[in-house]
Amino acid sequence: MITNNISDKTLFIRNFGCQMNDYDSLRIQKLLENYGFKKAEKYEKASHILLITCSVRQKAEDKVFSELGRINQIKKKNPSIILGVGGCLAQHHGKKLIKQFPFIDIVFGTQKINELPEIINAAEKGNKIVNIEMNNISEIYPAGPYKPEPGRICSFVSIMHGCNNYCTYCIVPYVRGPEKSRDSTEILNEITGLVNSGVKEITLLGQNVNSYNNEQNNFNSFPDLLKRINEIRGLERIRFVTSHPKDLSDKLILSFKQLDKLCEHIHLPLQSGSDTILKKMNRVYTSQEYIDKVSALRETVPGISITSDIIVGFPEETDDDFNNTVNIIKQIAYDDLFIFHYTDRKGTKASTLKDKIPYKIKIERLTILNELQRKISMDKNSELINKKVSILFENTSKYDNDFIAGRTRTNKVVNCKASADVIGSIRDVKINKANVHSLNGTLI
Ligand code: SAH
Ligand code: SF4
Ligand code: F3S
Repeated sequence: MITNNISDKTLFIRNFGCQMNDYDSLRIQKLLENYGFKKAEKYEKASHILLITCSVRQKAEDKVFSELGRINQIKKKNPSIILGVGGCLAQHHGKKLIKQFPFIDIVFGTQKINELPEIINAAEKGNKIVNIEMNNISEIYPAGPYKPEPGRICSFVSIMHGCNNYCTYCIVPYVRGPEKSRDSTEILNEITGLVNSGVKEITLLGQNVNSYNNEQNNFNSFPDLLKRINEIRGLERIRFVTSHPKDLSDKLILSFKQLDKLCEHIHLPLQSGSDTILKKMNRVYTSQEYIDKVSALRETVPGISITSDIIVGFPEETDDDFNNTVNIIKQIAYDDLFIFHYTDRKGTKASTLKDKIPYKIKIERLTILNELQRKISMDKNSELINKKVSILFENTSKYDNDFIAGRTRTNKVVNCKASADVIGSIRDVKINKANVHSLNGTLI
């Protein structure tokens, strides 16, 4: 239990990385509020700072390191600040982080959320704490009801932790641990609680949601879970990320047709269009098997939007390998793509491969794909002009306060001139302008 001077504690959490970290940060924020912490709006107002970090690419780590430099300056002025570093980079580097940055007070792992009150308490007594042990899935998140931030329309819900796939480039299995699925009753209770607090859309999170409960021989599998979530009254929309193509089952594809709340969008990372590279990546599917899954999805769910992740410049990637990726992207015509250039992650198999691709070539390939995808996205979005779409409005637009932003069921952002009372409702909108990453429309 935290004992000293509870009312003075102010917490600033800075978050890096993926949706898993967004979810974890919110859980931490809510947990520590129960222990008397108030939310600080910036570092300078905080008695406690937590960084929730990412390690997936070198760039993600570099961002955290430069942020630590900034915080060092703030801590020099106010040495009583308790600084904790959690998330994937903390899990990856462990106690080395404190050696490198001696002003850090706490290093905590990706599975230590629920133990943070005790960990912080120990640090407040002047100890340096490093705790990166793995836990049982039932011990990672605090038990009991969890309320979102007031006014939230969309919320993430983690359904599993970790990954067993060991794609040869990827650090995630090492920093998030082996795959573990959360108990389905706990998930359903959490979603019901969120819906009762005003949430209309949930996105289920896992590194590979398709293998939910695989460790129990698929008893209560992912499609079964979706079916039960679909029955929650008051919930309007269900989404999920991420799906590994190798585990995308016919049953899951059918769920899109059968479950009215499940939105017509799937993020299905391809990574490469070359079978040679897919093999070296340990992705366990061929490009043809991937194309067949996409065809099955499009046949069963007409109009489904499909997005993907691509890595360019994987070690030993030839021009021919890269051209295969270009061709498959043209053939599939994704709604959107996240394209990354390969970086070594220490401890992974790919980092030991000899023939690394020079930075300049990686960036050339990245630029080619970005330009290609911009055209495809623009064409796809333009097809929606003058069409009627159904939008769940979420918040005021980032770019213009007169506009309210929402998303189509296919996960496209639409900005509409409207009053703030549309927030939280689903309305019909006519699209009148297409951009690469968003659309504009008017309320019907
Ligand atoms: N579990 C998800 C991916 C999580 S990581 C999945 O399997 O789809 C998000 C993305 O980061 C990956 O899909 C991959 O495209 C990219 N990525 C992972 N490791 C990388 C590395 N070493 N270099 C470049 N990109 C990487
Ligand atoms: Fe990484 Fe592959 Fe697991 Fe995704 S499936 S988290 S890319 S190891
Ligand atoms: Fe990064 Fe960890 Fe997510 S490495 S991408 S924050 S799972």
